[in-house]
Amino acid sequence: MIPEIPRRHFLGASAAAAFSGFLSENVFAQEESPRSDRSSSSQTRCVFGPRRLFPDLKITFSQTGNNVRFFIPGLRVPSKILHLSDTHIFLDDERGKPFERFSARMAAAYHRPTHCRTGKTTNPMAAFEESLDFAKREKVDAVTLTGDILSFPSEAGVDWLLEKLKTLDEAGIPWFFISGNHDWHYEGWPGTDEEKRAEWAPKRLGKLYPENANFLNYSAVVKGIRHLFVDDSIYEILPEQLRFLKAELAHGEPTVLWMHIPPYAPGRNVGFGCGHPEWGKDTDKNWQIERREPWRAGGHTDVTFEFYETLLKAPNLMGTFCGHVHVNALDIVNGKPFTTTEANAAAGWRVVEFLPQETYRRPAGPSPISFLP
Ligand SMILES: [Fe+2]
Ligand SMILES: [Fe+2]
Repeated sequence: MIPEIPRRHFLGASAAAAFSGFLSENVFAQEESPRSDRSSSSQTRCVFGPRRLFPDLKITFSQTGNNVRFFIPGLRVPSKILHLSDTHIFLDDERGKPFERFSARMAAAYHRPTHCRTGKTTNPMAAFEESLDFAKREKVDAVTLTGDILSFPSEAGVDWLLEKLKTLDEAGIPWFFISGNHDWHYEGWPGTDEEKRAEWAPKRLGKLYPENANFLNYSAVVKGIRHLFVDDSIYEILPEQLRFLKAELAHGEPTVLWMHIPPYAPGRNVGFGCGHPEWGKDTDKNWQIERREPWRAGGHTDVTFEFYETLLKAPNLMGTFCGHVHVNALDIVNGKPFTTTEANAAAGWRVVEFLPQETYRRPAGPSPISFLP
């Protein structure tokens, strides 16, 4: 049995746990590597801002099925990430008995999903194991888990996940978890979603986060790409998360954002709920089924909208990767790809590759366009 992790264990840590161990010195052709000076204070001072490092980041984006690729000028070292979301593990044992009246509905869900590639019946545990086998076979550089990996905060479920994820550790593949709206949710438990997340994420999910990471947000640099993990599983963004986003973007590297709930895209329903202008109490259809308080009357806070607008405008934010809606979808918003990945309960996944982009050269004569700044 894995002991419960007291909240202070990682809440006291830095909001931005950067895994600079993955940052290669020579991943970019530019002489000026992104770096920061943390020696003089706890504040991160940006040495090279995004406009200096990448004055005009002209990436190419492509999608084939559930594989997406970013071609990045100046990048020297490629990297490949496997994105998993919405496995909805429902395992439980005697430790969950006192909570059964809060877990019963979700404990009965997703038992026999249809495998998205074979069309045969599968189950979340088999789908997850298949995904990890794929990650090891493909020798990916990291696996990202963007929430609803559990259907409720089951200790047995977390133990099972840790046992399986240990095989990634043994293979030298780092993995990064951020929670979804089900990972911490006991239906009918009193309190607001923010309060319930603050209670159950540390208590039950603590071992799923990297050591010293803040469960609300943390970052990892993998082969020159900055990966931001932000918990928007209550649909709203907290002021400290907005500050985190701005500080992280100021580092200047090409950056991507991993969250559970996808950001708003025109034409999408309120499931694409982070920054959705119609999100709010009037459009919340599931609060009674999920036995939680309805969404905020009057819609999102200004902080949530500012977070959304900040990521839209950031020159070095290349795209977002989310789950929650259980479909493989792509929206290009303001020139940025916003993707959602099919539920991993049905063995869905997405491969995300970051690749060097060659300079475009015509065989003869000057080129009418240039991919390089
Ligand atoms: Fe889900
Ligand atoms: Fe969800």
